[in-house]
This record gives sequence, structure tokens and C-alpha cells, in this order.
Amino acid sequence: MVGRMESGDTITIAWIHSFLYLFLIFASLHLLHTHLILPKLDVDRHDVRIKKIAPLPLRFRSDGTFKILQVADMHFGNGELTRCRDVLDSEFKHCSDSNTSRFLERMIQLENPDFVAFTGDNIFGTSASDAAESLFQAFNPVIKSGIPWAAVLGNHDQESTMTRAELMSFLSLMDFSLSQTFPSVEDTFNPNKKTPIPKIDGFGNYNLKVWGSPGSSFANSTILNLYFLDSGDRATVNGVRTYNWIKESQLNWLRQISEKSQATS
Ligand SMILES: *[C@@H]1O[C@H](CO)[C@@H](O)[C@H](O)[C@H]1NC(C)=O
Ligand SMILES: *[C@@H]1O[C@H](CO)[C@@H](O)[C@H](O)[C@H]1NC(C)=O
Repeated sequence: MVGRMESGDTITIAWIHSFLYLFLIFASLHLLHTHLILPKLDVDRHDVRIKKIAPLPLRFRSDGTFKILQVADMHFGNGELTRCRDVLDSEFKHCSDSNTSRFLERMIQLENPDFVAFTGDNIFGTSASDAAESLFQAFNPVIKSGIPWAAVLGNHDQESTMTRAELMSFLSLMDFSLSQTFPSVEDTFNPNKKTPIPKIDGFGNYNLKVWGSPGSSFANSTILNLYFLDSGDRATVNGVRTYNWIKESQLNWLRQISEKSQATS
């Protein structure tokens, strides 16, 4: 016997068909999304890395001190693989960039500074095959300490795989770094003349302000300015190879902002 369907059954089956059809479309879209689209969107798979910010502002301690550890000429290369220079033959075998790292770690622990200033030749271009990797290793001790720090460049930093501009922007993005490629906006405007200060030569010209001790009468004022200037790398003058120097544009900037801060204090 051929079954006769009631109209109610016809509607139910049609409804089930539509449902299955919709389910199929949904399942296909879901598969397409998870297998083809998501793997291409990195943000869904990896943690987004955000720069760790130093506790700001820089401030004198309650006892009225502010301790700066200055570190120059780390000359960092490829870490463990880069041998020390200027050591005794007997020391050569067991001396590498790691000794520099351990030395910096010990200094930071012993001195417990409020701020660390790196004043150039942080990495040594000819021994550093990847500038970014060398920078990560060179600044690892200070980053691990969580102490605010800032750096400028020497004449060797740019001899690896980054230009001076690239190095400064990389440094400014590292954890707990207060390094800047250019002065802050508040340090580039001359309030008296109401005109922007002309372009400043170099990369790594900036001013960091240190505030007075908490609870003191200077608590709401900056009482120390740390000026960083880019003294460049090398230059040839009248056919003679020599070092570069701080330019008039940088001195003008320095004069103008220091006058401005004296006027407001
Ligand atoms: C470098 O570090 C190693 C391991 O701690 C040590 O044995 C060696 O004496 C250090 N070299 C120098 C020159 O300090
Ligand atoms: C600094 O500012 C805070 C908050 O405005 C205020 O309570 C305090 O009295 C100020 N201290 C001084 C020394 O001016």
C-alpha cells in the first residue's frame, strides 16, 4: 500500500528539510571559519604583547636621594658566543658577553638604583649578527630588575642590522624603558615664541624629569632634568675620518627647554 501523507506530515518534513539545510550551511560556515580563517588571524591564537611600563613619574626617595647607575660600552654581541676582548689569555676561554650580563646584574642588585642610564655602544655592531637579539640580551638584566632605564647610542650601535632611528624606536618599545627617539611634545614647543622648534639632528634627544620626594615641599615639582643627546657616530671632515659631534640644533633645543624649565620652577 502506498502511504498517503496528510498535509500536516508534508509540512513537518519540509520543515525538517529546511532545518537540516540551515544546519548544513551553519556547519559549513563554522568549519570554514575554524579551519581556514582563524589560523590566518594571529590575534586569536597568540597573546598580544604589551610593553611593561615603569612606575612613573621618576621621583626622589623620601630620604632625598635619587640614585642613577650609568652603564656605558657594554659592547654586546652574540651573547655566549662572543668572546671578551682585552682579557688575559688564561681568562679568554671562559669569558663572553654573559660575563657582562652577570656584572650588570650584580651592579643592579648591589646598588639598587632608582634609574639606569645606558650611554652608548650598548651593542657592538661587528659582533652582533642580529641587532634585535643583541638588544634583548644586553638589556635583559635591567628589564628583569623592573627598574626604569633609558639609553642613547654610541658610534658602534648602528653597525649591526638596524639604523640609529630603528635602534632608538626599538629601545623605546622595550620593557621599563623611558628611551625616546625624539623629544616629547611638551619639550619641543617654545611657549614664548609660539613657534615649533626646528628639526633637531640625531635620534635619541630627550628630557626625563625627576620629581621631588613624596610628602616634601617639592612633591609636585620636577627638580631634576636628565637631558639625553645623540652625539652621533662617525664623520669625515676635510678627508679626515673622525667622530661625529653634538650639533647646533641640539644645543638650541637644550637651551630652549632648559630656559623654559627654569622659568617655570
Ligand atoms: C666569566 O664568567 C665565568 C663564569 O662565571 C667565570 O668563570 C670567569 O672567571 C669570568 N671571566 C672574567 C674575566 O671575569
Ligand atoms: C601636591 O598635590 C597634592 C594633590 O593636589 C596636594 O594634596 C599636596 O598638598 C601638594 N603638595 C605640595 C607640597 O604642594
